Amino acid sequence: MDTLSIPYAICLLSLLRICVCANGNSNLFNVLSYGASGDGTTDDSSAFMKAWSDTCNATNNPTLVIPQGKQFLVRQMIFKGPCKSSTIKVQLSGTILAPDGPDQWKSTDLSTWLAFQGVNGLRIYGKGTMDGRGKGWWDRNCKYHPGLQGCITLAPTSLKFHKCNNIKMKDISFHNSPQIHVLLLGTQNVDLGYLKIQSPRTSPNTDGIHLQIATNVSIHNSNIAAGDDCISIGDRTFNINITDINCGPGHGISIGSLGKSGESAQVENINVMRVNFRETTNGARIKTWQTGKGIVQFVTFSNLNFTAVANPIIIDQYYCYRPNACKQTKTGVHIRAVRYSGLIGTSKTKVAINLNCSNVVGCTGIKLDNIRLAPATREIGQLTSSCNNAYGINRGTIQPESCLHHTFSSV
Ligand SMILES: *[C@@H]1O[C@H](CO)[C@@H](O)[C@H](O)[C@H]1NC(C)=O
Ligand SMILES: *[C@@H]1O[C@H](CO)[C@@H](O)[C@H](O)[C@H]1NC(C)=O
Ligand SMILES: *[C@@H]1O[C@H](CO)[C@@H](O)[C@H](O)[C@H]1NC(C)=O
Ligand SMILES: *[C@@H]1O[C@H](CO)[C@@H](O)[C@H](O)[C@H]1NC(C)=O
Ligand SMILES: *[C@@H]1O[C@H](CO)[C@@H](O)[C@H](O)[C@H]1NC(C)=O
Repeated sequence: MDTLSIPYAICLLSLLRICVCANGNSNLFNVLSYGASGDGTTDDSSAFMKAWSDTCNATNNPTLVIPQGKQFLVRQMIFKGPCKSSTIKVQLSGTILAPDGPDQWKSTDLSTWLAFQGVNGLRIYGKGTMDGRGKGWWDRNCKYHPGLQGCITLAPTSLKFHKCNNIKMKDISFHNSPQIHVLLLGTQNVDLGYLKIQSPRTSPNTDGIHLQIATNVSIHNSNIAAGDDCISIGDRTFNINITDINCGPGHGISIGSLGKSGESAQVENINVMRVNFRETTNGARIKTWQTGKGIVQFVTFSNLNFTAVANPIIIDQYYCYRPNACKQTKTGVHIRAVRYSGLIGTSKTKVAINLNCSNVVGCTGIKLDNIRLAPATREIGQLTSSCNNAYGINRGTIQPESCLHHTFSSV
């Protein structure tokens, strides 16, 4: 046996080496190897930043690993690119914890907790959680606590993608963000799937996902429960597919608000398909300020199921919470070519279809196609539709009865 042991050991070692290389372990950058403690109380930010620096500098498909079974407390961090490899993976299996409320927040920048900036080819996966620990922020929110000294209007977004291209993220959970959970800004070619976003109904401004200056985005197979919009679509957004989503509680799926400070808005090719809305304060919503200009066009809301939803179908071109922006102007955002198709379920408000379009530009090319809405409770009585300057056509059954002004052109 002794005579065999040395060659045997060499053989075993070389086998191990092969295994190591085949697993690509040389490309794994685990935050624990950089000194992160993962105990939920020690600040692990510098370990994360060092691990990111090596990941971003590695040349072939590196992976930043945030392992499971641990909680990593980290402060505000910006993961900057460009990186050397054309794909960068982030395996998020553990939990990342934000500083616990405004008193623990050390940065002067309150806008963002974690951000990727200028990173291309990012893949984030792994059943991990980002816990924003928002309660301390919500408790001092100005909107919910008017008159409170030192109240807060801006609280951190949990995860921001800024000027990134080619992003995929799946299976991640987001809890209790101080404000927006996921923000896409100046970002294109994005696939977000199998996400779980969860914050209480009463948490202020906690949108699930917000898009602004974003092109080619797919958001699918996700559950979103929040205190504000499940998904909100801001200005300069193009080619957005939102499919197979459970939304609620929350404020629904919203395009806008647009044109708040008189901007010229541009939003095109938005498809919202197969969404279940449960007890949300709106369903399919488009909201613009009277001061706005520009256009929203080629929007489809199809196969939506509303359960006890207030304002299931709503266009509000008189959206306003800032006094001088509420006056009638000579402008308006033109909303055209919007199709509502296969919408069913129950409404908590009597006006279930509310197309309150601008008196200046109006809505054109609206299509209502097979809509069957019933009152959520007997007390609501028979549902109605309401149209102001809304033009378009009807197809199939429309309940409540349509109020659209007919036009024969398609726009
Ligand atoms: C890559 O490495 C260089 C030199 O070691 C360093 O200066 C730079 O900050 C690193 N880049 C990133 C993105 O971390
Ligand atoms: C969006 O996707 C289309 C089709 O794949 C592609 O031609 C276009 O370049 C993309 N736009 C951006 C901004 O990447
Ligand atoms: C959106 O869906 C359409 C139709 O299925 C598809 O052609 C298009 O590529 C999708 N766009 C994105 C960004 O996923
Ligand atoms: C709509 O949602 C309700 C409540 O979850 C459910 O009972 C019903 O089956 C759904 N309808 C369709 C067509 O999926
Ligand atoms: C339409 O908007 C105007 C102006 O805000 C408002 O007074 C009116 O009640 C709205 N109509 C409906 C049906 O909501």
